[in-house]
Amino acid sequence: MPIIKAWRSAILHCIANPTDVAHEQAFQYFEDGLLVVEDGHISALGDAQTLLPSLSPDIDVEHHSNALIIPGFIDTHIHYPQSDMIASYGVQLLDWLNTYTFPEERKFADKDYASQVAKRFLEELLRNGTTTALVFGTVHKASVEAFFEAAEAQDLRMICGKVMMDRHAPDYLTDTPESSYQDSKALIENWHEKGRLHYAVTPRFAPTSSSEQLAQAGKLLSEFDNLYLHTHLSENLKECEWVQALFPDSSHYLDVYDQHQLLSERSVFAHGIHLCDQEYQRLSETGSAIAFCPTSNLFLGSGLFNLEKAELHKVNVGMGTDVGGGTSFSMFSTLNEAYKVIQMQGQNLDPMKSFYLATLGGAKALRLEDRVGNLAVGTEADFVILDKAATPLLNTRLARSSSIQDTLFALMILADDRAIKATYAMGQCVHRRD
Ligand code: GUN
Ligand code: ZN
Repeated sequence: MPIIKAWRSAILHCIANPTDVAHEQAFQYFEDGLLVVEDGHISALGDAQTLLPSLSPDIDVEHHSNALIIPGFIDTHIHYPQSDMIASYGVQLLDWLNTYTFPEERKFADKDYASQVAKRFLEELLRNGTTTALVFGTVHKASVEAFFEAAEAQDLRMICGKVMMDRHAPDYLTDTPESSYQDSKALIENWHEKGRLHYAVTPRFAPTSSSEQLAQAGKLLSEFDNLYLHTHLSENLKECEWVQALFPDSSHYLDVYDQHQLLSERSVFAHGIHLCDQEYQRLSETGSAIAFCPTSNLFLGSGLFNLEKAELHKVNVGMGTDVGGGTSFSMFSTLNEAYKVIQMQGQNLDPMKSFYLATLGGAKALRLEDRVGNLAVGTEADFVILDKAATPLLNTRLARSSSIQDTLFALMILADDRAIKATYAMGQCVHRRD
């Protein structure tokens, strides 16, 4: 017997990129909607009045008033080992790595420690309504095993990889081209496409990998199907100068990765702030994606991501929190800062576009849009129930909202994890507030 359950509430999801279609065709909104889940997948979505008569009377219908059901958020760039060093004061990227990040990541040589952090990290993501993420581990193979074990225990759709880093980092945190290849390969064989898990080949960024190591990363991508490539690109101006000095034969930063065959439809580059036109062009041609990480870009003083230019070149973009360079696990906070980053450049980020970037757009950047990112029939039932009365201010502000766009915008500016009433993965509750 299939397990069927239904949720009745206002429901919103994106069905297309608002930049590509007429605004009303980009989303579906049901003021009194019904979401039906059968064996972990969405089997029906529509107006409650229309769908209820066809639903067998013995099916459990959970009713939420003053609520909004949305797809689980997609975080396209985050570091689980940096969970506890979030909010570290005073420096920009390269000093931040040396002062705070590398000593913190050293602790993940201990698998028990890694397991504890991985568990708390996933709880934090789910508390914030994020159900899928592209995640950095550390250089230690065990850090990724710990992460996958924790994600598998809750049947979450997650992507992770072991950092490859063979230079310009402390000895206690470096591998070699050969060991990074072997460790990554073993992880791929054990975990890639096991249940809802995927592997991402993860060179940290160009300055911490030799050309030999980047070649090993390219070799892995050529040897296994559907692997991701996850790294950083053009985040900080000093970093960019350093890359030019280290790889004088490359025509720009992205070219370092390109020369090692690291650009593909499953390549995700975090930041991409200081890019030239050829770099946008190559990202677009290869179907690669950029993770836009506004809280991190502001916190580390890295710069303002040019979303308009990325879109002009038809580059896929998703949202990333980039914890612990980023300052929040919350997609609301991330979209709040994204709005301001775009404002600072004299442009606008409309709420439906923001919502798209954090859900279906993120899923498209990760090539997972047929499984997660919206609530289309047949997709996996990863969704969130938002409480529109989570705080007194939210309650009064949303009570006077005149449209779903206005509701969305106010949520992005005002909401936090208190607004996440419950989070579901494959139709199972994986977080409940209180
Ligand atoms: N570039 C290389 N490593 C890192 C990292 O851990 N965080 C961020 N934000 N940028 C990086
Ligand atoms: Zn990062």
